[in-house]
Amino acid sequence: MPAKLTQSEQLLERRKNVVANGVGVFNTATAREAKGAIIIDEDGRELIDFAGGIGVVNAGHCPEPVVAAIREQAGKYLHTSFNVVTYEPYVELCERLTEILPHGEKTKAMLVSTGAEAVENAIKIARQATQRQAVLCYTGAFHGRTMMAMTLTSKINYKLNCGPFVPEVYRLPFPNFYRYGQGKDRDTFVKEELKRLHESSHNLVDPNNLAAIIIEPVQGEGGFNPVPKKYLEGLRKYCDDFGIMLIMDEIQSGFGRTGYWASWQHYDVVPDISTYAKSLGSGMPIAAIVGRAEVMDTAAPGTIGGTYIGNPVCCAAALATIQMIKDEDLNGRAMKIGGILKKHYKKMKETCSEIGDVRGMGAMVGIEFVKGGDSRQPDGELCSRILKGCSDQGLVLLSAGTFKNIIRILAPLVITEPQLEKGMQILDAVIKAEIAKNNKIEFQKI
Ligand SMILES: Cc1ncc(COP(=O)(O)O)c(C=O)c1O
Repeated sequence: MPAKLTQSEQLLERRKNVVANGVGVFNTATAREAKGAIIIDEDGRELIDFAGGIGVVNAGHCPEPVVAAIREQAGKYLHTSFNVVTYEPYVELCERLTEILPHGEKTKAMLVSTGAEAVENAIKIARQATQRQAVLCYTGAFHGRTMMAMTLTSKINYKLNCGPFVPEVYRLPFPNFYRYGQGKDRDTFVKEELKRLHESSHNLVDPNNLAAIIIEPVQGEGGFNPVPKKYLEGLRKYCDDFGIMLIMDEIQSGFGRTGYWASWQHYDVVPDISTYAKSLGSGMPIAAIVGRAEVMDTAAPGTIGGTYIGNPVCCAAALATIQMIKDEDLNGRAMKIGGILKKHYKKMKETCSEIGDVRGMGAMVGIEFVKGGDSRQPDGELCSRILKGCSDQGLVLLSAGTFKNIIRILAPLVITEPQLEKGMQILDAVIKAEIAKNNKIEFQKI
C-alpha cells in the first residue's frame, strides 16, 4: 500500500497537477502561516526561514505594524490609480524614499509593483535623459524576467528559448575577485577590470551611445558578489566622463539587508538612478525607482506608469516597513547577524576545502562550495544536497550563482538569536554530513 502523503506532499501534488512547469520550485517547503523568522508548514512543522521569500521579508513575516497599516488602508480605499486620482500614501512614500536615498541635490521617485518593472522604467528614464539607446550590463547579473530585464539578466537557464532579446544591450564580465582573481592582489585585479571597461569603448560599445550602465553593487542571484569599491568608483568616473547614467539595482540588496537602506551607501558612490523592491513592502508588491530629480524629470508624461503603480495598500505597507526598520534598528541588526554568520563560516572554511569562500555585506552572506578548494570548480551538486538536507531538517534555504553552488542567507533581520543559532546548527550538521558523503564516494573510487 502506498505511504500516506503528508499535507505538504498533497499540496505539492496538487501544484504539479495544475501549475505550469516553468514556475520553478526552489524548495519543497509549504506554508500555512508565518511570523518573524518562522514558517509553519501545512503539517504544522516549524521551519526556520533563512530564505526570507527571496530577500523580501527583512522586517520579518507579518510584522505587526505593517499588518496594521495594511488593514487600516484596506478599510479606506484599495485603488484609484495614481494617474487618475492622487492619494497621500504614494506621495508620502516618495517623500520618505527621497529622504533616506538622496541622489545629489534634489531627488525624485516613482513607484511600480515589481522589481523587473522598476528596472524597465529605470532604463526608459535613462534613455530619455540621454537620448541614447545602448545599455551595458554584467555577467552574473539578474534584473528580472520581463523582456528588457531578462535581456539584462545573464544566466542562460533563466532565458532558455525566450528570445529574441532586446537589441542594444552589451555585457562585460562582473569583477568577481574570488572566481577570476586567482594569483593576483585585489588592486591589480581591479585595475585590469577597469582597463577592460575602458577597452570596451573600442571593442564593445561606443560610450557616446550608452544611455546607462546597470550594476548590482552586491550581485544577488549571481552569488552574493560585492563589487570592489575601486571598481565602482572607476565606473562612476567612466559614466561621468561620457554622460552615461549609472543605474544601481538594489532590489535584493536594499532595505536593511546589507546594514543600509541601499548597499551603495557602503561605497560612497552615488548612482544617477537606483531601483528597489522586495523588502521595501514586506511582501506586498511595491517597487521604486529613485534618482536625481533632473534625470527623473526628463521622462515625458505617460511614458512611465501603469494602472497599478504604487497601490495604496502597498504604499501603506512600505511606509510602515520603513518606520519599523528605523524603530527597531534593523540596519544595525543586519550588521550584527552578518558578523555572526561570517565569523562562524569563515572559521569553518579554515578546515574545509569544500568551502571556497564566505563573503557578503551586512546580513547578505554567501557560502561558496567548490571542488578541491579551486575557485574555478563550482560544486553545485554538493550545494543542492545541502539545501535538500536542510529542508528535511526544517531549515529553508536558497542557492545562488550561475552554477548554483553558493548558499545565500537572507534570514529575516528580526530573527532571534536562538533561532539564528538553531538554523546555523542545522546548516553546519548538514554541511558536515554531505561533505563526509563526498569523502566516502572519493574513498570508494580509490
Ligand atoms: C537584483 C534584482 N533585480 C531585479 C529583480 C526582479 O525583481 P522581481 O522578481 O520583483 O521582478 C530581482 C529578483 O530577484 C533581483 O534580485
